[in-house]
Amino acid sequence: METGEKAVKTTFVPSTFLKKTGTVILALLILTAFCTYITYTGYAEKYSVFLNGPVAPGPQNEIKDLLHGLKHVSSIQRSALPRSSHFISDISDNNPSSRFYSVWSEETTQIARKTTQEDRKKILVWNPWPTISMLGRRACPSMPQCEFTKDRREVADANAVIFWFATIPHVYNSSWFPQSRPADQHWIMRTPDCPHFTRNHDWKSYGGVFNRTMTYRNDSDIYMPWGHITQLYEEIARKPDTLGRHYPKQKDKIVIWYVSNCYKHLTRFAYANELMKYIQVDVFGGCGADYCGLGPGGRDCFTNHLRQYKFYLAFENFKCVEYITEKFWLNGLKRDAVPVVLGAPRRDYERFAPPNSFIHVDDFKSPRALASYLLYLSKHDDKYMQYFAWKTNPPKNLPPYKGAWCEVCKKLVQVNPKERKVYNDIDKWWRGENYEFCEPVVMLDGIRRKELAVHYP
Ligand SMILES: *[C@@H]1O[C@H](CO)[C@@H](O)[C@H](O)[C@H]1NC(C)=O
Ligand SMILES: *[C@@H]1O[C@H](CO)[C@@H](O)[C@H](O)[C@H]1NC(C)=O
Ligand SMILES: *[C@@H]1O[C@H](CO)[C@@H](O)[C@H](O)[C@H]1NC(C)=O
Repeated sequence: METGEKAVKTTFVPSTFLKKTGTVILALLILTAFCTYITYTGYAEKYSVFLNGPVAPGPQNEIKDLLHGLKHVSSIQRSALPRSSHFISDISDNNPSSRFYSVWSEETTQIARKTTQEDRKKILVWNPWPTISMLGRRACPSMPQCEFTKDRREVADANAVIFWFATIPHVYNSSWFPQSRPADQHWIMRTPDCPHFTRNHDWKSYGGVFNRTMTYRNDSDIYMPWGHITQLYEEIARKPDTLGRHYPKQKDKIVIWYVSNCYKHLTRFAYANELMKYIQVDVFGGCGADYCGLGPGGRDCFTNHLRQYKFYLAFENFKCVEYITEKFWLNGLKRDAVPVVLGAPRRDYERFAPPNSFIHVDDFKSPRALASYLLYLSKHDDKYMQYFAWKTNPPKNLPPYKGAWCEVCKKLVQVNPKERKVYNDIDKWWRGENYEFCEPVVMLDGIRRKELAVHYP
């Protein structure tokens, strides 16, 4: 509770107040008392997240990875501060040699690799994730010098070893990891999930273990977003638009929400419940009606279903900086339903997504105002169609991006063989120095209780 109280004080009191006197100080005291009251009474209740809610039907593969991390929840934790408003990149800019890792050069490099060709790279995935496929040289066809493998026996020859964070020990235990470690081998921490999903791990115990990071965050050594603007435009170029100007006419329904993690206290439920008072929202997935099922045709069914709607609620589970998932890229943008987003701050979407491709809830003073805007757009085809203009206007200078496997390969090829790097404080790197990268929520024991889940009839 202490941290929460402190957070409220430091965040909501503008610094100009401090320069004034008398009544202002009194007001400040009253405000503090009020905040303390809120903290001790309503706050914890309001921001609770109950994990292990019902697991959903629906297009499952995309969320499997996410759900996996939720299975063994038994701790109560809380991140300390509300989401801060700074860019992650600002931090790195101010601190080229960051507080969280050390970089150095090892002059006497004895390369023990057996590889005959200098530029050949072998990458071992130590604990493969369920959806892993495309190994060997097919993982990144444009860079055949990189070979990926799942065979642990090849560890001594590997230039890099990738560890999927969800299934590594919760506390660092050296016996789980490779027993020998060449000085020039890169250990890569990989996670597609946001800090709330990885909170059961004792990140502090992993200080000094990993050389590289591979996450959705752009300041990772290896960038692995859930979707990428360059790949999106490449796909559009390969499969030109078939619906074109007829979008609105084929879309006779307005708002759809597929939602499968039903923990009642996630911010998005309060928002959606309010929104539903002013506009019809058709809810499917684990928290609503079943529509496509899990069968073989599930994916096509899902696509066709989404295409009947003008808007798709791409509401993330958690509000974390730069955390924009498949809900946005795959369900919204690729399936031609304009995504209405709640999650990362607007400027993150602006940085990563095509221009004017989404509607951000933060732009509206209330869910009601958002509802009127959606209703307005649904009656004005020309205005609605502006949300598809990005498709035919690719921005100039799209950054090259061929997927996370290629990024790994590129990194290994480009990095100076003498360069060494290690994350001494991966906890703070990942969650923010003051744990500010995610909006705080209280994590309670995962008890599967019906009354803790939201279900729309
Ligand atoms: C570390 O892992 C080994 C083998 O997996 C296990 O026997 C040992 O108890 C673990 N140590 C700790 C401290 O958890
Ligand atoms: C991601 O980081 C790179 C390298 O720092 C930078 O050049 C690029 O502009 C960043 N991209 C976004 C979308 O912020
Ligand atoms: C990785 O980190 C370890 C531990 O600090 C270090 O010994 C090793 O040289 C580093 N490797 C690379 C390639 O940076």
